[in-house]
Parts: sequence; structure tokens; C-alpha cells
Amino acid sequence: MYVCLCKGITDHQIEAAVHEGAHSLGKLRKTLGVASQCGKCASLTREILDETLQEV
Ligand code: FES
Repeated sequence: MYVCLCKGITDHQIEAAVHEGAHSLGKLRKTLGVASQCGKCASLTREILDETLQEV
């Protein structure tokens, strides 16, 4: 599922980046570019981040 339409980033890409150590929205933005344009995906990205961190 696409989370960030501006950058074409999926939930799987976000999960993979969190598993590789991007443990904050800022780090995800730096690594993937997610939430770096319109910002509409920021809250969903944060939810995926929180959920993925609970699994780690
Ligand atoms: Fe992610 Fe616009 S949808 S920055």
C-alpha cells in the first residue's frame, strides 16, 4: 500500500527502514524522503513507525 504518494513510498519500505534503524520520523524522512513534500503522509508514517517499533 502506498503511504506517501508524493515520493511513491509503501508501508513495506517504511517497515524495512525502521528495521534497519530509522527509529524516528526525521530519520525516515532522511532515509526514504517520506513526508518531505506535502506532509499529508506524516501521521500514517508515524503510525507505521510506532507499530513496527513494537514488533522490534
Ligand atoms: Fe508524502 Fe506528500 S504524500 S509528502
